[in-house]
Amino acid sequence: KIKACLFDLDGVLVDTAVYHYQAWKRLANTMGFDFTEEQNEQLKGVSRVESLNKILAWGGVEKTETEKQELATLKNSWYVDMITKMTPAEVLPGTVDFLTAIHKAGYKLALGSASKNSGIILERTNLAHFFDEIVDGNMVTQSKPDPEVFLKGAELLGFKPEECVVFEDAVAGVEAAKRGGMKAIGIGEKSVLANADVVVSGLDKLTVKDLESL
Ligand code: G6P
Ligand code: MG
Repeated sequence: KIKACLFDLDGVLVDTAVYHYQAWKRLANTMGFDFTEEQNEQLKGVSRVESLNKILAWGGVEKTETEKQELATLKNSWYVDMITKMTPAEVLPGTVDFLTAIHKAGYKLALGSASKNSGIILERTNLAHFFDEIVDGNMVTQSKPDPEVFLKGAELLGFKPEECVVFEDAVAGVEAAKRGGMKAIGIGEKSVLANADVVVSGLDKLTVKDLESL
């Protein structure tokens, strides 16, 4: 029986996935190449350094560790410029209602995000108070699809993996949930998130009942 809900942040609760995409695209463009929206799916849920490594490989570009640090910092500065201007209006449809409903129904909630910027986003969008525990990129060493971020969340909440369901928009995130022995609700398209137990287009399509029948 499901007792706890672990939420990815970018692309599940807030529409920051587009900001990540814009900032990475701009970075690639400054190096003289581009990448597709389909390639971008592979960046979702993946840490900042690993995303950069993938992008450099797509462009066939080699950089030193120092240069990589600079590029990652540059991308992050553009990204932070965008997220510091966020408002609660950018919370995705149905999010506040769904989080309120599951909290009322007695489920425990944790954030499970690869982002080191989760604090600022949760604060700007007024979502922080919903979470009993927050696990983000500052607290893990392994990037999704490694299950570390979700296992840590389950542990902090005091539940076994099989008592947890993960909400994810990323292929790597769904895989992390499954590797961790948890249920996964995909947020996005069925064709992309084929390994999820259930796929919906957004949290606005879910009710507490959907958790009971998992
Ligand atoms: C999330 C996003 C990724 C992002 C990662 C690290 O998982 O889906 O696109 O690369 O967080 O985010 P950060 O804000 O630390 O660069
Ligand atoms: Mg995501």
